[in-house]
Amino acid sequence: PDFIRRDWATVHGYPMVYAFTTNWERVEQFQCRPEDVWIITYPKSGTTWVSEIMDLIKNDGSVEKQEQIPIVQRVPMMESAAPGTLPSGTENLEKMPSPRFVKSHLPIALLPKNFWESDCKIIYVARNAKDVAVSYYNFDRMNKFHPEPGTFAEYLEKFMSGNVAYGSWYEHVTSWWEKKKDHPILYLFYEDIKEDPKREIRKIMEFLGKKLDEEALDRIVQLTSFETMKDNSLVNYRLLPTTLMDHSISPFMRKGIAGDWKNYFTVAQNEKFDADYEKKMSGTTLKFRTEI
Ligand code: PPS
Repeated sequence: PDFIRRDWATVHGYPMVYAFTTNWERVEQFQCRPEDVWIITYPKSGTTWVSEIMDLIKNDGSVEKQEQIPIVQRVPMMESAAPGTLPSGTENLEKMPSPRFVKSHLPIALLPKNFWESDCKIIYVARNAKDVAVSYYNFDRMNKFHPEPGTFAEYLEKFMSGNVAYGSWYEHVTSWWEKKKDHPILYLFYEDIKEDPKREIRKIMEFLGKKLDEEALDRIVQLTSFETMKDNSLVNYRLLPTTLMDHSISPFMRKGIAGDWKNYFTVAQNEKFDADYEKKMSGTTLKFRTEI
């Protein structure tokens, strides 16, 4: 189909997956509800992981209550669309009863018009920039909606200049960080969840206003470990046809670790990246760990 592997389209200056831009008004006109809880991230930052945690918390840690439904239907991605293949995210969400969980990678400038009026809860997850670049590079290789990334060296230049779907990582993480001042946003870090999943799951539980006992929390830790999720077809994206995602090129559940960038960046690339990072992140109070 012609939506596969097209060059980027642009929405208000942001590079965007071509297929998603057909009928973009549906995104702008999307009706938010005050009971909605959004999971918002820059791509490849732990969205699927936290979506599954949120949904298990909602279902008291019970997989039976999740009813064997794929994560893309339990936590639909608002802006997604693959014309002629799957119902769009907005179509799925409109049919869903409240309280809904809504996934999105949108930068602030592209949010639906009534987004801030609805005063919904937001969970934001940020991940180390270098690991995001590595994960995104491998995702662009296997995801047929995205243009071929080229070599890692070529891709890294695009990442640094924001010439990838959803634009600049630097702008995304810092502008969402600023919004924390005025709105209920739980801002989490991938590396923190990796370090102590139970501590972070408890934060999410409290933010969602749920109370689960220790046993349920322990079960959620186990059910959302990388090892378990990688083999769970409801969350590992293997139910999608290979014409959309080809896991033989690189699996969606790829490595699930902090620090894989060390296996990809050359010393020269790392120095260049750090100098550029310093400049782009100089004006923010948002700090990532220096050692991972
Ligand atoms: S997407 O396409 O933007 O929604 O992708 P997203 O889910 O945000 O990110 C995918 C990366 O998250 C890793 N992942 C996990 N890491 C640790 N634990 C668990 N349970 C987990 N689930 C997903 C996934 O492997 C991708 O990272 P990489 O580094 O590529 O392995």
